Parts: sequence; structure tokens; C-alpha cells
Amino acid sequence: MRGSVTDRNRRCPMNTQQSRTMAVVGAGVIGLSWARLAHRHGWRVTITDPRPDLGELIESEFGTDDRVSWTADLAEAVRDADLVQENGPERLPVKQQIFAEILRAAPADAVLATSSSSITASLIAADLDNAGRIVVGHPFNPPELMPLVEVLPGKKTDESTVTRAVALYTELDRVPVVIRKELPGFVANRLQKVLSSEATYLVQSGVVSVEDLDTILQNSIGLRWATIGLFEGNVLGGGPGGARHLFAGVGAEVGKIEAGKPSSEPEAMAELIENIEATYGSGEQNYERLVAKRDRRTNAVLEALAKVDDRPAVYPSPSV
Ligand SMILES: NC(=O)c1ccc[n+]([C@@H]2O[C@H](COP(=O)([O-])OP(=O)(O)OC[C@H]3O[C@@H](n4cnc5c(N)ncnc54)[C@H](O)[C@@H]3O)[C@@H](O)[C@H]2O)c1
Repeated sequence: MRGSVTDRNRRCPMNTQQSRTMAVVGAGVIGLSWARLAHRHGWRVTITDPRPDLGELIESEFGTDDRVSWTADLAEAVRDADLVQENGPERLPVKQQIFAEILRAAPADAVLATSSSSITASLIAADLDNAGRIVVGHPFNPPELMPLVEVLPGKKTDESTVTRAVALYTELDRVPVVIRKELPGFVANRLQKVLSSEATYLVQSGVVSVEDLDTILQNSIGLRWATIGLFEGNVLGGGPGGARHLFAGVGAEVGKIEAGKPSSEPEAMAELIENIEATYGSGEQNYERLVAKRDRRTNAVLEALAKVDDRPAVYPSPSV
């Protein structure tokens, strides 16, 4: 099956790289978000996924637009791509099989990126020849809003692939950061994991409710880290004496605190999930409501930061 639809809703892209094509492999949560990002930047987007409702899904997302096409045929989808962004299931054999096919069909100069949160380019490329074009391009959900893309070359990745991946993500107004060691979870998710672990421990121990934990986070380090970095905050925390003063003073005491160990017992986890659902709800309508809230608030932060920095806003979501 293949389809394309005529442009009914062109959204005045900030960056008109009309000649670029992104092939989106896997049209789930992440793939569709990449597709929306590329589309808003004036790129052509070809989308492939074995799901039987692919055509309906793409039409409901993009209406009629001749810059968007879909096909169940992976080779056809990647044939003209500048950037192949793979977003299939997080399973190594599936990704290995998808990339073997992408390697055969994609143009010789295309960047072949996986959105994988945990599977490295080295593992995907282990049994593949000519795999110098394969790289991890890991976004934060949703890629259309979150600027970060962690770019991780594997053992076989060519340096020119890294350079081109960085250039392409920059054209999409993302903020690519190249990570040179393939540690599980890369960087952002490793940081998030540590914080989530302590948050779980604090809720399970009855120190704080789910709601209050989030209130504390949003009104302290969340806001701080949206505006300045962690280490930059250390400099400020020490006053004019800077990070040296902080580490010698307050930092020395805080450094003695030991992280809590949350329970992963099924009962404890079930209770936590019940708590989270009681606080934030569940179900499809609730999901839509939370997505709209997240998009609205994230865009507000991005736009406000762009304004104070006197630079163009990172491409805003049309839902704003
Ligand atoms: N969800 C997140 O928060 C998040 C964040 C960053 C990165 N990622 C990564 O993005 C990738 C996709 O995650 P997701 O959350 O969008 O998953 P998802 O389950 O929403 O989507 C996966 C899609 O892949 C499709 N698919 C199945 N087999 C396929 C095949 N052989 N070829 C092409 N498509 C196929 C499925 O039909 C489905 O639509 C994963 O590698 C994940 O690690 C996810």
C-alpha cells in the first residue's frame, strides 16, 4: 500500500529545506513525532510501518499533503532519504533486520539513525557490512518539542556520518550532542533513572505524595535546569566564591546523604502505579489532555527562553 496526499495545511515552515527527505521507519509515538517535526520544517516525509491502518493514521495526522507519503514497503520508503530515522520496536533482532534492509535500499550518502533508547549502533551493526552510516540519534519524547538528540556513533560508524547527523538535526532546530562512549541508557536517561529511583523511594517511604514530589521538582530543579545547567548552578550556589566554595561548604554536607533504595516488589510497584493514576488519571482521553498540557507548557518555556535570549523560537508546535 502506498499513498500521498495534497497539501491542505502548510504550516509556514521556519526553515525551508524543501529538498530534504526524512524516512520515518515505525510510526508509533516517536516516529510520528519525528514526522511532524520534519514536516513542519518543510521536509518531505515518507513513513513506513507494517500496521494495517497506516494510511488512515497518516491521513488523520497530516490531512492531504503531497509532501507526506506512506508505504508498507520499507525499501521504497527509504529510497530517496537524506535521513532515515528508525523508530521500530525496542528489540535488537528487529532493529538488526530493519537496518539490514535499510542498508540495501537507502542512498549511499543517507544518514541511517535509530531513535533507540538503549540499543547501541555497535550492536545493530555487529553483523552488517558497510555499516558506517548507522548511528544512534536518540531523542527525548516528543522529538518535535524536546530539542535534545543524543548522537552516538558505534564502532563501525564513520565520522562523516556523525558530522552529517549533527548537521541534519541542527537543520531541524534540534540540539544534537555527540556522545563518544556507548553506555547503556546513554546520558539523559541515566540521569533521569537516578532521579526516578530516589523519587520512587521517597513516595514509597511516605515522605511525600506523588503530587507533592512533582510540585517540588517542578518548582525547584525542574525550573532551574530549564534555564541553567547543573554545573552552572553549582557555580551560582557558591556565590562569588563559585563552585569551589559550594563544594567545600554546603556541598560537603549534602555529599554525605545516601540515596534511598526503592522497592521493586510487585506489590510496592502496584501501589505506586495506583498512586500515580489516582493523581493524574489514566485512559485515552486523559492521555490527550496531558499531551495538550505538556505541549502548551513546553512551548511556552521554549518561546520565553528564545525571547529573553533574543533568538528565534525553537519551532513551535501547531497546537499552541
Ligand atoms: N517512547 C519514548 O519515550 C521513547 C523516547 C526516545 C526513544 N524511543 C525509542 O523510539 C523507538 C520507538 O518507540 P515508540 O515509543 O515510538 O514505540 P511504539 O510502540 O509507539 O511504536 C513502534 C512502531 O513500530 C512499528 N513496527 C513494528 N515492527 C516494525 C518493523 N519491522 N518495521 C517498521 N516498524 C515496525 C509498530 O507497528 C509501531 O507503530 C524505540 O526504539 C524506543 O526506544 C522511545
